[in-house]
Amino acid sequence: MEETFKNLSRLRKDERIRRLVQQTTLSRDDLIMPLFIHHGENVKHPITAMEGQYQWSVDQVTGFARELVGRDVRAVLLFGIPAVKDPLGACALDDDDGVIQRALRALKQATPELVLITDLCFCEYTDHGHCGVLVEREGRRVLDHAATRERLVLQALSHARAGTDMIAPSGMIDGQVSAIRQGLDANGFGHIPIMAYTAKYASSFYGPFREAAGGAPSFGDRRSHQLDPANSDEALREAEADIAEGADILMVKPAGYYGDIIRRLRDCFNLPIAAYQVSGEYAMIKAAAARGRLDEAVVIRETLLSIKRAGADLIITYFAGDEILFD
Ligand code: PBG
Repeated sequence: MEETFKNLSRLRKDERIRRLVQQTTLSRDDLIMPLFIHHGENVKHPITAMEGQYQWSVDQVTGFARELVGRDVRAVLLFGIPAVKDPLGACALDDDDGVIQRALRALKQATPELVLITDLCFCEYTDHGHCGVLVEREGRRVLDHAATRERLVLQALSHARAGTDMIAPSGMIDGQVSAIRQGLDANGFGHIPIMAYTAKYASSFYGPFREAAGGAPSFGDRRSHQLDPANSDEALREAEADIAEGADILMVKPAGYYGDIIRRLRDCFNLPIAAYQVSGEYAMIKAAAARGRLDEAVVIRETLLSIKRAGADLIITYFAGDEILFD
């Protein structure tokens, strides 16, 4: 008899066959765990907005990093919370006492297996909470991209001297990738890759991060330099610019609701694509799971799989070290 319909469920009928035809897989090899490094000693502050996440002082984070290595986590992304904030974010450049610089040295010792990636921005270090140097223009205080670029190079060099394995500039400052690349190359750090926050959207999903990283803009917002969530084509223009400027990895952020952007970059460019499952994406799953509305472990895997399916090679996620991920 002639077949009148397609039996597509044939390949789904049992676990053995499903595994055989599974296209996308999850592995800790592709996950990056963000860590918040707090000034001082003996600090392990729970982050209320992000249940299960902590701010760590350098002496405490090394133990946790060893646990992460024990769970086969390969890479961490470091954010710093300094003791003092000022208009220029001077603490970010402190070779000796900077939180990130100290954390890099301690983690290199304690966990040489880990790839140490450092977020490069000034918003956690400035008292106004903006991502760089501000100037007065047309009666408003706005970001001075040129002045900020110069200081980003200084911060990158400080991280490089302290032993960073990779630099991730997150400020969406025009020309930041080329400035940092040239600065690194001219100072003997040509081997340090740049993971560019290429398509970083002005997203409300960064809400819980404000508590985690101890800062938010004291006035205004970041829409003057981060991408408009309504736009897709400008992500491609950003990617073209970052590639021309020397980026090694392109990042899309947030991840979960931006699968179309991940896919467009994947199809247009052949660099590794990273996607950042941000604080709000994490907090939503945690909140729903705490109320028994979602099966946490299954939902986490589904979100990560969908980000990979969209085309991401790497995922930055607060679930990277979670024991339930691969139980
Ligand atoms: C800025 C930065 C932010 C995040 C990572 N780097 C905040 C912002 O741009 O407002 C957000 C990460 C998250 O929400 O998990 N240095």
